[in-house]
Amino acid sequence: MTVKPNNLEKLPEDLDRNRLPKHVAVIMDGNGRWAKRRGLPRIMGHRRGVDALKDLLRCCKDWGIPALTAYAFSTENWGRPLEEVDFLMTLFERVLRRELEEMVQENVQIKFVGNLKALPPSLRVEIERSMTQTQDNNAIRFTVATNYGGREEILQACRALATQVQQGILQPDEIDEGLFASYLYTSGAQDPDLLIRTSGEMRISNFLLWQLAYAEFYISETLWPDFDRAEFHRALEAYQQRDRRFGKV
Ligand code: FPP
Repeated sequence: MTVKPNNLEKLPEDLDRNRLPKHVAVIMDGNGRWAKRRGLPRIMGHRRGVDALKDLLRCCKDWGIPALTAYAFSTENWGRPLEEVDFLMTLFERVLRRELEEMVQENVQIKFVGNLKALPPSLRVEIERSMTQTQDNNAIRFTVATNYGGREEILQACRALATQVQQGILQPDEIDEGLFASYLYTSGAQDPDLLIRTSGEMRISNFLLWQLAYAEFYISETLWPDFDRAEFHRALEAYQQRDRRFGKV
């Protein structure tokens, strides 16, 4: 059945409500190219990217998907031109300040994962505020990966576990997958079932290396600012056609 683009407020009827991913992760790629194609500065792409992310969050909530994680800034992104990095930090701060009240009202629980200590202090204040004010919300869990690197996350877990072993608190053979996962930034969260990356790139780029072990990947050719409900619908259709075997036959 075809679904009209203006009829996507509710879950499209061709999707099976019982087989939706419980956690969707997104690598929002293509903001710079979106702007360049329009002769605009790259930062305009990031601005429009925020709108696309807001609508995806609302869409997940409307369609009954209980968790969304977005890759906003990687540990490698510090290598971008200083003015772009500064713009992004200010943008995150402004968006948090502007959107927090609505997130509280909409029962969104906000989490940040990554090495947050290295972020500008004024941004950290907004991050702390948003996490505290939404910690009891339960309509959807929205996780933003900021100054996040999968390898760094795994290393800091190893260091913490090694310290426990060194102090005699833990035996090496007590370290299993569950315990290890509890030392990651994402402790307590379910692993993503579906990873979407936009702009046609087919890389994982140091994102959730441990957590994506069994996720289905969906690559969209759309640049992130143009990623809309119709495109998300296509991603979910593809997901529901996959045969998830988790290594079994
Ligand atoms: C990748 O496009 C995008 C980013 C590095 C930034 C994404 C951030 C947002 C959309 C803002 C999110 C805001 C909050 C508060 C969660 P790119 O610049 O790599 O694009 P390109 O590959 O075309 O150069």
